[in-house]
Amino acid sequence: MEPLRLAVLVSGRGSNLKAILDAVAGGSLEASVAGVFSDRIEPPAFEWARRHRVPALTVLPGAGESRAAYDARLAGAVQGVRPQAVVLAGFMRVLSPVFLELFPDRVINIHPALLPSFRGLDAQAQAVAAGVRFSGCTVHFVDADTDTGPIILQSVVPVNQDDTPDTLAARILSREHQAYPAAIQLLAEGRLQIRDRRVLVDWQGRRPRPPRDSIVEWQESKDTCAGGSHRDQE
Ligand code: GRF
Repeated sequence: MEPLRLAVLVSGRGSNLKAILDAVAGGSLEASVAGVFSDRIEPPAFEWARRHRVPALTVLPGAGESRAAYDARLAGAVQGVRPQAVVLAGFMRVLSPVFLELFPDRVINIHPALLPSFRGLDAQAQAVAAGVRFSGCTVHFVDADTDTGPIILQSVVPVNQDDTPDTLAARILSREHQAYPAAIQLLAEGRLQIRDRRVLVDWQGRRPRPPRDSIVEWQESKDTCAGGSHRDQE
């Protein structure tokens, strides 16, 4: 299988980028990161790109530049590395159809909550404030709204009574670092199919390994992709 060529878009820390690069280097993710792009100058994430010898490029929004004009420029730069999928890893802008239409069903994101709860910014603080007992992360396809696209994988963590937004964020983040490479591997293997806004996962009889310290396994679809060889093992 040819590795899936990825472009990764970042704005800051880059721990998910690091998890993806490590999974590629370790052989658990059959992908290659062809380029890393940022809307900010020298985000910490670029350090991880450099260590893995991946080209890193800032596409800075111009003063007064429209969203559409910026997204067209960004898309042009991203197209330059001929990605087969675009991975948002802490990219702090909402992409408009100008960008998304160039990569149909090929842009994915990770969000630090169990969508559709707690969309947008400060999802972990929203979860603590709401008093929910569980939260987690969601990997989903990106559509033109914020955190609303079809869900690929979710992973669940408990929320403790004494959690702060920071302690919860740290617990969720370690789960993100497992969930994102796992979801991209499913995409690389062609096991994802969007139907009526739902993502059908063809597990091909292979149960995903539960994450360490997991209280709930990956949320699995019990549906079969058309033409797949999935056997429900339940
Ligand atoms: C993560 O919590 C991710 O879920 C959210 O932004 C954060 C990015 O963190 N979309 P990092 O830059 O990958 O460390």
